[in-house]
Amino acid sequence: MSYETLLVETRGAVTLVTVNRPQALNALNSQVLADLIAAFAAYDADPAQRCLVLTGSEKAFAAGADIKEMQAKGFAQMFGENFFAGFERVTATRKPWIAAVSGYALGGGCELAMMADFIIAADTAKFGQPEIKLGVAPGMGGSQRLTRAVGKAKAMDMCLTGRMMDAAEAERASLVSRIVPAADLVAEALKAAEAIAGMPPLAAIANKEMVNTAFETGLATGILFERRLFHGLCATADKAEGMAAFVEKRPGNWTGK
Ligand code: HXC
Repeated sequence: MSYETLLVETRGAVTLVTVNRPQALNALNSQVLADLIAAFAAYDADPAQRCLVLTGSEKAFAAGADIKEMQAKGFAQMFGENFFAGFERVTATRKPWIAAVSGYALGGGCELAMMADFIIAADTAKFGQPEIKLGVAPGMGGSQRLTRAVGKAKAMDMCLTGRMMDAAEAERASLVSRIVPAADLVAEALKAAEAIAGMPPLAAIANKEMVNTAFETGLATGILFERRLFHGLCATADKAEGMAAFVEKRPGNWTGK
């Protein structure tokens, strides 16, 4: 399948999605949104694909929602269309995915990166929620996900001043899991994705659901959810295979069952 604003390729069990709207620094207009929804749905539905990497260009992962598209829209239209609610399809992706960020990840671009299971940043990455400078505020989850990732002080600082955070600060603040040299970004992200793609697939989904549940529940409920899901994984063929492979000192051969 081909997309107007994305390049999508598969490398074995890994899908690489590159946002490709260089004339607008990958600003997220309705077409990019529609393409992302379709690409993520296709990835989730393809049993041969086990991990996805989303990246942009060297200069910009995405410089935000498309300001020129939003300029003409007032409240009634935004509310009526439920503007950008479509991104809930991206966050509903069951299988793992990584954001590989080089250059600007601003506004909706930062928010899109934060929808990933984790972010690998190039040393050139710059994160920010500059919407305040446009008279608005984050609208794709930034005020919530940034605060959960970096805490109140830094989230307030970012949202109220609109300043950018460089890769080193983002790593210190736990917004990103690792920093790599810009030239190696996609290769390093693909390497991480290949490692994930080589894991038992049901266990990968379960691990993702457990960590995400930490953001949705209290501790006791989250721990119970974790334990029950752990018990459930013990009914899978891949659990039997994984433990046998360990004891027999050989690699596991996963069936996804
Ligand atoms: C539309 C954008 C854009 C955006 C850049 N462009 N960002 N178009 N929406 N978010 C376009 C520019 O208009 C320009 O087009 C071209 O991309 C290159 O950008 P320049 O500004 O010339 O590049 P540069 O001088 O290098 O500056 C880079 C930049 C700056 C610092 C990233 O572009 C910038 O500040 N962009 C806006 C960042 C922002 O405010 N993002 C938050 C958006 S609000 P032309 O045609 O002039 O060459 C948001 C809300 C989310 O995301 C919530 C929604 C519900």
